[in-house]
Amino acid sequence: MIKAVEWKESYLQLIDQTLIPSATVYKKITTIEETFEAIRNLRVRGAPAIGITAAYGLYLGMRESKASTREEFLAELSRHIEYLAEARPTAVNLFWAMDEIKERLHRSQTRDVNALKKELLTIALEIHEDDRQRCEEMANYGQEVIPEGARIITHCNTGALATGGIGTAFGVIYRAHQLGKQVSVFADETRPVLQGARLTVFELMEAGIPTTLICDNMAAALMQQRKVDLAIVGADRIAMDGSVANKIGTYNLAVLAKYHGIPFFVAAPLSTIDPEIHSGKDIPIETRPEDEIRKVFNQCLITVPSVPCWNPAFDVTPPELVSGIITEKGVLKPPYTKSIQEVLNNSLINS
Ligand code: MRU
Repeated sequence: MIKAVEWKESYLQLIDQTLIPSATVYKKITTIEETFEAIRNLRVRGAPAIGITAAYGLYLGMRESKASTREEFLAELSRHIEYLAEARPTAVNLFWAMDEIKERLHRSQTRDVNALKKELLTIALEIHEDDRQRCEEMANYGQEVIPEGARIITHCNTGALATGGIGTAFGVIYRAHQLGKQVSVFADETRPVLQGARLTVFELMEAGIPTTLICDNMAAALMQQRKVDLAIVGADRIAMDGSVANKIGTYNLAVLAKYHGIPFFVAAPLSTIDPEIHSGKDIPIETRPEDEIRKVFNQCLITVPSVPCWNPAFDVTPPELVSGIITEKGVLKPPYTKSIQEVLNNSLINS
């Protein structure tokens, strides 16, 4: 399976996702500035993949550090964390991964700066491997919601390109396919950046999963004609009340699913839940450049060049539209205020 993010002994290798599926170009990332640029410009995207990339980016930023004491080292690390935190605001995995690094280095007793640098790389590699394992667990738990022969609709891209493993929503679908459940998928194209058309279709077809591409505005007709049995999407940030921020258009799909009586599931690791945010309205939503809408894929102008555009990259689906949240610890059910709190408490006890 394709690897979106790979550590190569002395540098970070990313697939430039802005070029898929026309070309598979690997980018060598050697500095924290290049890491920032790759995240900001969607060369690497998808909440877990962004978090993993940031973890390696911090190491790239710190490996030449001239700090002579532990205190200087940690202060410089904090400045780098602040810098990378500006790359994209919604995917909480970015902040989660960097907090994890900060906390673990603060807890460690290491005073030697070279040893701290090594520790930082070790933690980044562990965050990467940890996400791979979480994807496997989500894929297994998710099987309880996928019937034989399910016709599934998904939005955006949630596969290997978006994570450190087989994916979140995509991983659940992929495992169902591996188990011979004869599933098929409708992929929303996901305007304006076309993650569905470019990336999800590419991954589904590589995996040999029967795939049909639709424009985002076709989902209603598809459901009305009873051509789809369930929806599964990923998440960029989940509030404690179960509100789900995910790629713009996810909320449309959830409203449609509710109206047509179709189950709507979200698959996300616990690292996507933000314990600091209680309600969906407090999730910060990224606004992206207006030209993403005026032009198809930054090339072909499709409107009057001066028209103002509104381009939020994510929307928030309220918890009452979500049938279940598939995590690496099981499928959470409503009421989410209770099930999310319980799963976080249990994972704290077991960590
Ligand atoms: O803007 P993107 O491409 O980073 O948005 C990605 C999504 O919305 C995904 O659905 C989400 O990150 C879950 S990925 C496992």
